[in-house]
Amino acid sequence: MSTFYATTPIYYINDVPHLGTAYTTIAVDVLTRYHRVRGDDTRFLTGTDEHGLKIERVAQERGITNAAFADSAAQPFKDAWPMLSCAFDDFIRTTEPRHQKHVQELWRKVRDAGDLYLGAYEGWYCVGCEAYYTEKELEQPDNVCPVHKKPVERVKEPSYFFRLNKYQERLLKFYEEHPSFVAPPSRLNEVMSFVRSGLDDISVSRTTFQWGIPVPDDPQHVMWVWFDALPNYWSAIQEPPELRKYWPPNIHFVGKDILRFHAIYWPAFLMAAGFSDDQLPKQVFAHGFLTFNGQKMSKSLRNTVKPVALADAFGIDSVRYYLMRAIAFGQDGDFSLSDLVQRYNSELGNALGNLLNRVLPQCRKLPEYKLPARGELTELETNLLAEARTQSAAASVAFDAVAPQRALDAIFALLGTANQYIDRAAPWTAAKQGDLARLGTILAVALEVMESVSILIWPVMPGIADQIREQLGLGPVVPVIGKDLWPTEAATGNAGRALGDAKPLFPRIDKEREAQLVASLGIGDGAAPPAPPAQAKEAAPTAQDATGATTQITYDDFAKLDLRLGVVIAAEKVKGKDKLLSLKVDLGEPEPRGLVAGIALTYTPEEMIGKRIMVVSNLAPRKFGKGLVSNGMLLCAKDGDKLTLMTSLVELPPGSKIS
Ligand code: MSP
Repeated sequence: MSTFYATTPIYYINDVPHLGTAYTTIAVDVLTRYHRVRGDDTRFLTGTDEHGLKIERVAQERGITNAAFADSAAQPFKDAWPMLSCAFDDFIRTTEPRHQKHVQELWRKVRDAGDLYLGAYEGWYCVGCEAYYTEKELEQPDNVCPVHKKPVERVKEPSYFFRLNKYQERLLKFYEEHPSFVAPPSRLNEVMSFVRSGLDDISVSRTTFQWGIPVPDDPQHVMWVWFDALPNYWSAIQEPPELRKYWPPNIHFVGKDILRFHAIYWPAFLMAAGFSDDQLPKQVFAHGFLTFNGQKMSKSLRNTVKPVALADAFGIDSVRYYLMRAIAFGQDGDFSLSDLVQRYNSELGNALGNLLNRVLPQCRKLPEYKLPARGELTELETNLLAEARTQSAAASVAFDAVAPQRALDAIFALLGTANQYIDRAAPWTAAKQGDLARLGTILAVALEVMESVSILIWPVMPGIADQIREQLGLGPVVPVIGKDLWPTEAATGNAGRALGDAKPLFPRIDKEREAQLVASLGIGDGAAPPAPPAQAKEAAPTAQDATGATTQITYDDFAKLDLRLGVVIAAEKVKGKDKLLSLKVDLGEPEPRGLVAGIALTYTPEEMIGKRIMVVSNLAPRKFGKGLVSNGMLLCAKDGDKLTLMTSLVELPPGSKIS
């Protein structure tokens, strides 16, 4: 058992919790939960950064005291994170006495080491960043802040300086000896080349405003907000002293915008305060930035896209899943509502929810509605169990490497295999044949794998994991320090346990419901996804511009298509319609789908039976009159009037995703 201490940045309170800050907080929660189920003794810290000129100005505008403003503005952060299932252990506010006391202690240590000196500072100061800029860093001609796009202010004041330059060589040596200190690796190169280009001493106190932590023995000065803020990671675990065991932090999660502060200034402050290299934080992980429906997260958009409202509309765990699956951690990415719905229906609904839904009802066909005992295993079962071991190991490797997306890829690969297993093992056939021993074995193995899955997904989807467990007749996941719950083998030996009722985990969101949910967010036209096109009369397979040439679409457009491999199990002509065939197609779903296709001039019903076809499975149903409805569209290539079905060369199981 080891300790695992992870932190979010402490958030500025002149903003509200938004999708960007929720993203960081959820990522820390996911990783900490992963370590909790592994039996580690974890600590998850978040909080608010409440000092500085910006806050003083907002409080003045509102005509309230700084402290009153800080209290009211910190609360929404404290309230929001639990509503996204983020289970922090501590919430630190920089205005708390416990923080002030320990930051002042750190200041004294740095001062006593001779690394602070009094000077005067004149420079270009951005209030938004609470940082000075050199002219080179500003956008010209008007000295505009590259982040806030507003002209910066010329400020001259007496100031304490920190001897950052003195630490240049030690920092470089530290990065060389601890290359995993900055992740992803490309960010380490960035940091190292910045340090190599030369570090100037930095100004770390202010006299132009009062809303900050007073400099010990010189109360004219308050500390620069970053000297005040970064030590939160240390001050929060000083008292009671039992908490000190968590030092050093295992990982600071930060957005790429604040990497420099965490990867250069923070270790240098700690070095100056007397920390040895192995007492420094283990890793600073810089994640990318989110856009929303393809738009940059401007301040107004940030205020409108409320993460808690998103979670209310689509489910907490769906939002957590989406953020962790759709965006490779470390890279920039887009939060797209239509992609969220698409993944909700196809990945969460079809792969995860449907699996349970296909298995549990079959258990009603057993003499008792209980977890059956395994009988003799066939190759189908041993293959599935081997896959469960492989993917569980792959998921843990990915979580250990802070790659939640890859962990989910592994878990969903296992779910894909489990769904194929149900297709092949066909419990309904065993039930029809009255072979209850075989039926019991199939269901036992499938349910045991689902039990493993409930642990594997718990870090990302704790609520859904516990709902699955309830249906499996199990209690919620309760991590215990020192006990590794990660499933290396599917659980056995619980035969006879009463099962819970099957309930849909992810009720399908159709286009109408999607529109309602999006409207409920009140995001407005600018950010709402484009309205779905009306069902085309004739299929228009390519996007074409006015000249008829094919135009390009984005990957997101393509990803909206749910293409599946289907097997035709019945086909007949449609009376009075020469061109149409009515088909029943197995798409790996509980029931075959009805499709109507305009292929009767090329293919006879007989030759269609058994054909493996490619189907657009998420196309809105199209009515052909007289109760005839097509629930999808098959794909053909066209050469003049001649049609050729798109098929697969290998015998893939029905429902296989085409991408
Ligand atoms: N108070 C400082 C941090 C001090 S830590 C000692 C600060 N606060 S902040 O409120 O501006 O939060 C910044 C963090 O929010 C970013 O580093 C990042 O973690 C997150 N994000 C803000 N906007 C974001 C996106 N659009 N996308 C992803 N994350 C973003 O900086």
